[in-house]
Amino acid sequence: MIETFKNDVEKGLNTTPKILPSKYFYDKKGDALFVEIMNLPEYYLTRCELDIFQNKTQQLIDKLQLRPNSYFELIELGAGDGLKTKELLRLLDSQNFKFDYLPIDISINSLKLLEQDLKKELPNVSVQTQQGDYFEVLASLKMSSAPKIVLFLGSNIGNMTDEQAAQFIYNLGANLQAGDQLLLGVDLIKPKELVLAAYDDSKGITAQFNLNLLERINEELGGNFDLNYFKHQPEYNEEEGIAKSFIVSTIQQKVTIKAVGKTFEFAAAEKIHTEVSRKYNDGLIEKIIANTDFKITDKIMDSKNYFADYILKRS
Ligand SMILES: C[S@@+](CC[C@H](N)C(=O)[O-])C[C@H]1O[C@@H](n2cnc3c(N)ncnc32)[C@H](O)[C@@H]1O
Repeated sequence: MIETFKNDVEKGLNTTPKILPSKYFYDKKGDALFVEIMNLPEYYLTRCELDIFQNKTQQLIDKLQLRPNSYFELIELGAGDGLKTKELLRLLDSQNFKFDYLPIDISINSLKLLEQDLKKELPNVSVQTQQGDYFEVLASLKMSSAPKIVLFLGSNIGNMTDEQAAQFIYNLGANLQAGDQLLLGVDLIKPKELVLAAYDDSKGITAQFNLNLLERINEELGGNFDLNYFKHQPEYNEEEGIAKSFIVSTIQQKVTIKAVGKTFEFAAAEKIHTEVSRKYNDGLIEKIIANTDFKITDKIMDSKNYFADYILKRS
């Protein structure tokens, strides 16, 4: 992991414009900051998807055509703290559905917390966690022939470019069987004021979350980023429906990263691109899945119509 982190940091900081992959946000501090972000008034995404999972739980079960006596695997990619999923697990458990819950996450810390939490809150639910990069664990899905429901929530897919998302869903399909389903939670295209506020909250938690990436490089790779001279900067292009987060160097400076054995130069106002958060509509989802084995069978929206959980079936 540390070797991949080092290589990705070296590659990203040698690229023009500079880039750092968003998956490295999630160390122990990043996980905790993300939980804080989910509770922010500006971060509507979690509340809207929670609205679906809390208030339309039975609808989710019905639309996924789940039956209490037919065993299935409920796999979650990038499960995080499982806040929304727990609502679904609770109802499935109370109705005696037969299933195993298999959360996958790159953060071992998140998985441990989730497992402890579920043991307390839902002791009857069988949980098997798997730590890893979901791009790499896809192939392991093939190892069981049980029917599968894959959850990919929180608009995590929006962290990929459309090409990467199409390839990811294609690969997912190649590792599933006919009839398996994907519940894909996505943030919908909406006005700039709403979107931008979600990535630039007034308490500065999102800024801390973004800048924690530099702190992580300092701690794990022996970097000497001075956080006083870098700032968080979100941008949103309403026409494209794409929000981007950057870390901006406020002065001209040099940063050395011991593990990489290199010094990197930053011009004043130079940006490091750290995250993309794409927003969607039906047309974009159709386009992304056009060359995959999935078809949209249903869609459930929150009461504000800000967020959608698409049900996609593998043919
Ligand atoms: C934005 S949080 C969302 C969590 C949850 N899905 C939700 O909707 O609330 C992203 C989660 O995905 C995990 N993650 C990010 N990139 C990943 C990757 N490439 N492979 C596996 N997990 C990843 C992070 O550790 C984090 O727990």
